[in-house]
Amino acid sequence: MRWETVEDYDAMSRRAAAIFLDAVRNTPSVALGLPTGGTPLGMYRRIVAECSTTHHCFRDATTFNLDEYVGLAPSDPRSYCAYMRENLFAHVDLDPSRMHIPDGLATRIRERNPGIPLEHALDLECAAYEESIARAGGLDLTFLGLGRNGHIAFNEPGSPFESRTRVVTLTRETRDANACYFPEGEVPSHAITMGVGTILSSRSIVLLASGSSKREAVERLRSAEVTEEFPASALHLHSDTIVICDEQSVA
Ligand code: GLP
Repeated sequence: MRWETVEDYDAMSRRAAAIFLDAVRNTPSVALGLPTGGTPLGMYRRIVAECSTTHHCFRDATTFNLDEYVGLAPSDPRSYCAYMRENLFAHVDLDPSRMHIPDGLATRIRERNPGIPLEHALDLECAAYEESIARAGGLDLTFLGLGRNGHIAFNEPGSPFESRTRVVTLTRETRDANACYFPEGEVPSHAITMGVGTILSSRSIVLLASGSSKREAVERLRSAEVTEEFPASALHLHSDTIVICDEQSVA
């Protein structure tokens, strides 16, 4: 695991955007794992800004988002699908047929299998997501944020390191941390997430951490103790991971 500590959120976002754009430039058919949440917003803003001044071709790239809430339609403004449309997809020339986000309603599967229980449809959605990643040749480069409890994507403490894409129950802590995105109503209790094993299969990984609220998690990651109780620690088992953190996140 390589660590890069940069001055602030802007510097972290610039560095992450540069890695992202280099990957697309060097390997136009790159398969990217993409995060949501507050942390990567600056990276996306930077990518979009760069694309408005210099031509970057995303047409052959494939994207797989890390996670999505169960029960939200892709059109729901609180869905990660809407987040990606707003912050990246609407602004770059990615091919819509190559953008993948788990469907938290498994709509297509339910249409094809009338009467199928939602739970079963969601399991099929997860299996199909893993198959799409495999068909794309696996993930080349995956960006991650860091939950305060060490979660990566929506892999909460206790997630097996070999886990693959599946439905998970969100902890109260994670739901509280995301409550600001749900001003009306509750944060969904379940999500579809790539597994820790799916993430570890990515050839390269970049984890982003910013701000004092991440200090404890960053410190625990630095301790290099590897335990399923702290999902991000699985990254110590990966041979090409960079952690980019800002000074505020480092105690
Ligand atoms: C959310 C997301 C994660 C994200 C993490 C940190 O729950 N599912 O993918 O990395 O929590 O979020 P933030 O960047 O807003 O702190």
